[in-house]
Amino acid sequence: MTKSENIVWHDSKVTKAEREKLNGHKGAVLWFTGLSGSGKSTVSVELEKELHAQGIHTYRLDGDNIRHGLNKNLGFSPEDRKENIRRIGEVSKLMVDAGLVTLTAFISPYREDRDNVRELLGDGEFIEVFVKASVETCESRDPKGLYKKARAGEIKGFTGIDAPYEEPSNPEITVETDKQSLKESVQQIVEYLKENI
Ligand code: PPS
Repeated sequence: MTKSENIVWHDSKVTKAEREKLNGHKGAVLWFTGLSGSGKSTVSVELEKELHAQGIHTYRLDGDNIRHGLNKNLGFSPEDRKENIRRIGEVSKLMVDAGLVTLTAFISPYREDRDNVRELLGDGEFIEVFVKASVETCESRDPKGLYKKARAGEIKGFTGIDAPYEEPSNPEITVETDKQSLKESVQQIVEYLKENI
């Protein structure tokens, strides 16, 4: 018997379409992916502020925060990262169903894991935002001192140093935080959303 046997799906009397109508916009996930220190949190925080000011219903999920609660039992092995992204994908799907524009900021280093989340969601609901900055740039920023620790061997399996980061092959949006200002990156995503949600 699989764990999901003998479980029955219950429909609600309020539909996703009705929630979206009430909100005045569709739900979607803006899936920020990139190296530690690339600017995922910084850009998504500013973007959320801007979208909220425009009357868009948002919610933000962030790697460090989620790892304090929902995913506190997960580490950084490939298996744990996969499970981390799987759970966030499922949570994002619920949030999109609630009609929210959801902003997620996770390294999500494996292409397959991100593609699995894309598969979970409907057409146009998964918007991959590649926050692009070289390892050298991220290491020179080192806002949490983690690259320094990784170089010193105090953290094993650090993304970009001794663990892989697979760049998106076809992201909906790429922001280059070592070339653009924060304002430019936010504006670029706002423009995309105007056309697409
Ligand atoms: S992942 O790969 O998507 O499961 O990672 P995520 O949940 O986004 O968590 C990344 C944050 O955890 C800190 N941290 C590490 N990052 C990468 N590799 C290792 N080994 C590691 N250990 C701790 C780090 O602060 C990451 O935050 P960001 O915001 O990306 O800098």
